Amino acid sequence: MRLLTAAVATLTLALGAQFANAAPIEIKFSHVVAENTPKGKMATRFKELVEQRLPGKVSVSVFPNSQLFGDDKVLEAMLLGDVQMAAPSLSKFQKYTPALQIFDLPFLFKDMASVDRFQQSPEGQGLLDSLRKKGYVGLGYLHNGMKQMSANSPLRVPADAAGKKFRIQTSDVLQAQFEAIDAVPLKKPFSEVFTLMQTKAIDGSENPWSNIYSKKFHEVQSYITETNHGVLDYMIVTSAEFWNGLDDDVRAEVKKSLDEAVAYGNQIAAEQAAADRQAVIDSGRTEVIEITDEERQKWVDAMKPVWSKFSDQIGEDLIQAALKANEG
Ligand code: SIN
Repeated sequence: MRLLTAAVATLTLALGAQFANAAPIEIKFSHVVAENTPKGKMATRFKELVEQRLPGKVSVSVFPNSQLFGDDKVLEAMLLGDVQMAAPSLSKFQKYTPALQIFDLPFLFKDMASVDRFQQSPEGQGLLDSLRKKGYVGLGYLHNGMKQMSANSPLRVPADAAGKKFRIQTSDVLQAQFEAIDAVPLKKPFSEVFTLMQTKAIDGSENPWSNIYSKKFHEVQSYITETNHGVLDYMIVTSAEFWNGLDDDVRAEVKKSLDEAVAYGNQIAAEQAAADRQAVIDSGRTEVIEITDEERQKWVDAMKPVWSKFSDQIGEDLIQAALKANEG
């Protein structure tokens, strides 16, 4: 009997030690932008919150600047378990959910408040679930901001862009948007944009202020036109296999931490856009062009026909829901 008691005690101790020493669950969070952007700061905050709340149970490693994966590979890698979280731009999901192309329609959203209202609407929240059948879970949206056009010659009206090569994300809507102004769109990874600009392999691009400033695009583009013609936001995703494999209590804490980090990221996105816009102007390395209402209308007239080309894939109801979000 004494032998049995000793054996049980040894086993209990061994199991206890094993549990105490169990390696924490590792969340690799991969993204392509710099750390001093809304996405970079959100990811860092997420790591801090998770590790504070689940000490020794979950650890988060953040890989910024395409260090681990570019956006072309990250979603495949996620299904293989090589990365657990990412927040690609919404423009990079078209092959998984054509309806997400809505976010690329030029001049659809009036401003970032409208984008936010649409994302929080039942239709916007429904899109987070649209990746489930492909094995992903959409955990939330994160803002970056409205896009501006940059080039090495001044762009005031669409005709100024004709014949020029623009780097775009992997989106057919963005391709159609540039074709609508007789420009030449080239789908290229974000990590290559600076060099493409520097070597003049491209003439221009479209980016929100935080990406322009953090990646120094303003140092290799002579002009930035404040067009606010579209949005660049993100979806935070994980794989269903990873997410469903977490214990309920762990999953709830991870989600709570993510929601708080996203709220923080969304809160600073507008401030960051304004600060980075000013920093670009103050650098004196580029000229920021503010267009008149009349000039802006020319961009709208040239690009808006793109909507009808994609309305079947996206769904007219969804487009109407986005327009409704513009009303406040
Ligand atoms: C990003 O903001 O994540 C990069 C977007 C891009 O590829 O232009």
